[in-house]
Amino acid sequence: MTEWQKSNWRSLPRVQMPDYTDASALNAVEAQLSKYPPLVFAGEARRLKSQLAAAGRGEAFMLQGGDCAEAFDQFSANAIRDTFKVMLQMAMVLTFGAKVPVVKVGRMAGQFAKPRSAPTEVIDGLELPSYRGDIINDLAFTPEARIPNPNKMLQAYTQAAATLNLLRAFSTGGYADVHQVHQWTLGFTEGEKAAKYRDMSNRIQDALDFIKAAGVTGDQAHTLHTVEFYTSHESLLLEYEEALCRQDSTSGKWLAGSGHMIWIGDRTRQPDGAHVEFARGVLNPVGLKCGPTTTAEDLKVLMAKLNPANEEGKLTLIARFGAGKVAENLPRLIKAVQEEGAKVTWVCDPMHGNTIKSASGYKTRPFDSVLREVREFFAVHEAEGTIPGGVHFEMTGLDVTECTGGVREVTDEDLSDRYHTACDPRLNASQSLELAFLVAEELVARREHAAAVANG
Ligand code: PEP
Ligand code: CO
Repeated sequence: MTEWQKSNWRSLPRVQMPDYTDASALNAVEAQLSKYPPLVFAGEARRLKSQLAAAGRGEAFMLQGGDCAEAFDQFSANAIRDTFKVMLQMAMVLTFGAKVPVVKVGRMAGQFAKPRSAPTEVIDGLELPSYRGDIINDLAFTPEARIPNPNKMLQAYTQAAATLNLLRAFSTGGYADVHQVHQWTLGFTEGEKAAKYRDMSNRIQDALDFIKAAGVTGDQAHTLHTVEFYTSHESLLLEYEEALCRQDSTSGKWLAGSGHMIWIGDRTRQPDGAHVEFARGVLNPVGLKCGPTTTAEDLKVLMAKLNPANEEGKLTLIARFGAGKVAENLPRLIKAVQEEGAKVTWVCDPMHGNTIKSASGYKTRPFDSVLREVREFFAVHEAEGTIPGGVHFEMTGLDVTECTGGVREVTDEDLSDRYHTACDPRLNASQSLELAFLVAEELVARREHAAAVANG
């Protein structure tokens, strides 16, 4: 393999990227971004890598979540705070279930570029280029809005920097104090179906009260007041990624400075394509989406390229097959991993294989399908003796109506009420927390099963 350079991807086949028409405007933006500070530092990316390594060994559990697409017009402190808060609540529930630390990674501060299933979109007979995320073009359905504009990269950088700044403030400024964060009753105050969530909430609350009463001091108190929170996004718009790529002065290695973790999407994982080429050279932990069309052969090549040193925590495989399809797909990929002796962290994305069109015409995801895929993911790992290392959700802390179902049932008819996503449907705050409870239940069951096996 030739020596990696951050611009080598340019000579390889690329998909899902815009063809900018104004080359000088593009060059000017790239030159400007190249001079801006990176958003993250190498030490942070390494630290996340070591935590993902722990998740791969079953000594931690990853929670990755956030918008499908961050949008310029939905950018607000409250939206960031609410998603951050729900993720902390979910993490608390999952910690209780898994009895291991939860590694919190937002799909935030950079999740702007979107791959699309079709290059164009037709509405009322008018055909226009697809919307590709706010970093590329506009959602409005006009010919002008859909022209890719490189200047939008600068606005994305600014929004990412401000988002990360607020996340860092929340993480260390007292907002993340475990004693403050939880309002465990969130949405689950009434109803028989919610009783089991209330029960678990009470047990968590008891544990927290005990810790408080026992008077935790010093370093331990610090851990309860601050939280580590990382950012991630799909590394799709490679001009942006390259412009933020920086050489780490201590190791000489290259850092994707756009976020702590980047991932490669299901549509851009061609082993000889531009996206894999870029990702293979950075020191950050890298995610790889694995779908029904991922072959064992491709996976082997991809693992060798993306993690040549077989470093733990470097590569996270994000399985997204769809409910009912995990049992036929995951075992063959687990086998490929085992045949290579590859070190990977397995994470379940139960969103992208479960998108349907509702009767009312909205793109949605039934809560039950999301849950079913998570359960199938756990069951296959149990059967194979491998480790389910985490979950990956499209979610928001806002009270949207984009996915159907949940204990506070969203119906097909409700979808039009508060359907705000710029791309795929997200779990709302209540659905996200409910899912965390149900995943925690799975984790408890696994621990109990493992303990029973160990005790003969
Ligand atoms: C996404 O995560 O928003 C996405 C497009 O996923 P995938 O590449 O798995 O379809
Ligand atoms: Co999505």
